[in-house]
Amino acid sequence: MSIDFKGRVAIVTGAGGGLGKQHALALAARGAKVVVNDLGGDVHGVGGSVSAAQAVVDEIRAAGGEAIVNGASVTDFAAVQAMVQQTMDTWGRVDILVNNAGILRDKSFAKMDLADFRLVVDVHLMGAVHCSKAVWPIMQAQNYGRIVMTTSSSGLYGNFGQANYGAAKMALAGLMQTLSIEGEKNNIRVNCLAPTAATRMTEGLMPEAVLKALEPQAVVPAMLVMASEDAPNRTIICAGAGSFEVAHITLTQGVHLGLTPDTPERLAAALAQVTDRQGETVPLSGAAQGTLEVGKAMVAHGG
Ligand code: NAI
Repeated sequence: MSIDFKGRVAIVTGAGGGLGKQHALALAARGAKVVVNDLGGDVHGVGGSVSAAQAVVDEIRAAGGEAIVNGASVTDFAAVQAMVQQTMDTWGRVDILVNNAGILRDKSFAKMDLADFRLVVDVHLMGAVHCSKAVWPIMQAQNYGRIVMTTSSSGLYGNFGQANYGAAKMALAGLMQTLSIEGEKNNIRVNCLAPTAATRMTEGLMPEAVLKALEPQAVVPAMLVMASEDAPNRTIICAGAGSFEVAHITLTQGVHLGLTPDTPERLAAALAQVTDRQGETVPLSGAAQGTLEVGKAMVAHGG
């Protein structure tokens, strides 16, 4: 069955270049009306111009699609609210939000300035929070919404020099976990995309031959599936070079030790068993994980 976005309205942040541009072009090519948002700064978040985003809008329109440009910084909640209002005034709904805008301020943690830490968290995490918050009541009222957060393997697994970026990206997985639970009753599905692609963000980080295999277009199918009517909910899809995987935050079977004065020593001795991955699960929520632990204690005490 083909994936079609006719009648749907999408906002893609950071869509002036790189992955966001490909997301916007692909959504529009499949019928969505697209808000092409981009602040237009450099990869470190310095400067700003709406010309790159306007060029994407022009490309969509030249191909017969519908698009409007927006130059809001996702860090500015009032500007984000105005962008969402502009979307409502133009098309009357918001079905899809792709939180894609991002910057880098890489340095080893020892050398990292706290201002660079805060800015990266502000753009990635608070940017996605602002956009999600602004569209949330609209999606609730529509009883329909699809939100894609852009996380990263740097957050899921760590990368040297990216403490700020990794923390912000993993926070987006946490945001997704709760929004996907809260949105369910209104048919709002929230998922994460963990892309790998050759863009200005990865320039110089990987050898030329590797970058060649990583065309941004190869990531887009994962976004399209998560933006579609039949989207999954609460999924982290990794995508790069045409390969797709799902990342889970799992829980081992563990062991119940109870509380005695020597619990720390018994835990240290049992660490291999606690970390053993055989039979690990993915709890349905944080509360479900807590309930699991209480259940083990009750079994241990014959309750
Ligand atoms: P990019 O630098 O080409 O795209 C990011 C876009 O976001 C730029 O066009 C930039 O102007 C825009 N932007 C930055 N700050 C903004 C703000 N405050 N408000 C609005 N727009 C803003 O880089 P790329 O690679 O296309 O990145 C897209 C997303 O994918 C980012 O969230 C990035 O962290 C993520 N990502 C990329 C990976 C890759 O391999 N390229 C790996 C993992 C995640």
